[in-house]
Amino acid sequence: MEFAFGLPGQSIFGTGSSKKLSEIITSFGGKTVFCVYDKGVKKAGIVDGLLKMMKADGLKVIEYDGVVPNPTDTNVEEAANIARKADVDVVVAIGGGSAMDCAKAMNIILTNPGSIQDYEGLGMVKNPAKPLIAVPTTAGTASEVTGFTIITDTKRLKKMVIGGQHVGATVALLDPELTMSLPASITASTGMDALTHAIEAYVSKGASVPSDINALKAISLISRSIVEATENGKNADARSNMLLGSMLAGYAFNSAVLGLVHSIAHPLSVHCGLAHGDANAAVLPYVMEFNTKVVPEKTYDIGIAMGICKAGMKAEEGAKLAVEAVKKLLKQLRIKTLQEAGVKREQFERIAEDALNEISTLFTPREASKNEIVDILNLAYRS
Ligand SMILES: NC(=O)c1ccc[n+]([C@@H]2O[C@H](COP(=O)([O-])OP(=O)(O)OC[C@H]3O[C@@H](n4cnc5c(N)ncnc54)[C@H](O)[C@@H]3O)[C@@H](O)[C@H]2O)c1
Ligand SMILES: [Zn+2]
Repeated sequence: MEFAFGLPGQSIFGTGSSKKLSEIITSFGGKTVFCVYDKGVKKAGIVDGLLKMMKADGLKVIEYDGVVPNPTDTNVEEAANIARKADVDVVVAIGGGSAMDCAKAMNIILTNPGSIQDYEGLGMVKNPAKPLIAVPTTAGTASEVTGFTIITDTKRLKKMVIGGQHVGATVALLDPELTMSLPASITASTGMDALTHAIEAYVSKGASVPSDINALKAISLISRSIVEATENGKNADARSNMLLGSMLAGYAFNSAVLGLVHSIAHPLSVHCGLAHGDANAAVLPYVMEFNTKVVPEKTYDIGIAMGICKAGMKAEEGAKLAVEAVKKLLKQLRIKTLQEAGVKREQFERIAEDALNEISTLFTPREASKNEIVDILNLAYRS
């Protein structure tokens, strides 16, 4: 057996744990803090309390609030210019994957020359970045614990994946209370992203025993809490399970990497403007169905983790139930089909071509041709 498994930083999890933010910054000798967030998180009332606390604790805080969904190279440049001028010593990201990825990418180019495009791929970042504390406010991307950042190249219309050493946050500070304000639709969409991470990591060619353990626990937690967290957002246990499940899915895919669902989701976001979680959710069951031919046992395991399948079934039978359960989840969570999301069939060829060039495609268990990807898109279009 051979594997490489690791995580970029430390995880601190617990209700109310965000109150430890100043203490953690100070432990790195931080005095001037660069805080990256987006306007939605600010509007939700999450940012002001944390800013007030940092200032009351004697820290100087510089802010960047311009992050957009599926953050861009322009966001990264803008933020880095502000941070360089202010000579910041610690970076704090507050928000979903967009704010955290922007902060991670900006932090890379603070200590490494050139632009973020120079670091596309795995293992390209050579110099250590500044200490970064990631405070997630969605239970979805797990960007707080992964060594990846995903940045849209606005010229090439491509979501660049940048991964490896010096990319991830130094500390992930996970406080489920900060996810309580998430509206139902974003809870569902980001939660389905987390479920996709766990499922793709579990069937990935890069999977290992430690990634499998984390992936299966994540599938179990997320599949049992996502409907409750969406329908009853004030249920603290459901919120906590979602954030924990999302974090464990991140532990899994940080080493196992992802698969064809993410390969298709990235061009869907870039060309059709879909939110990351919605794009993943819409194609997930159809990619699972496609993969079942080569990973029936693993798909059956997913059904067992979801509490859908019993021991002793035939693998193919269990796998079918798992796929049906994911389709049912999409209906319960009111996830839009590609047609409802405004995707045009004429865009399928380009999306399929781009999907073939994504890093995750190297890890998907069953190789797919361009035509097979178009078939998957057609299924996700009209279902
Ligand atoms: N780095 C990684 O490992 C990784 C993994 C998967 C996805 N991603 C990337 O993450 C991005 C998506 O992140 P996301 O799905 O978390 O969405 P997001 O960060 O874009 O947030 C979605 C919306 O929710 C709002 N929001 C966030 N938290 C809130 C809260 N608590 N209350 C109310 N509103 C809130 C935001 O303001 C925003 O409008 C994509 O760019 C995707 O490619 C990164
Ligand atoms: Zn994702």
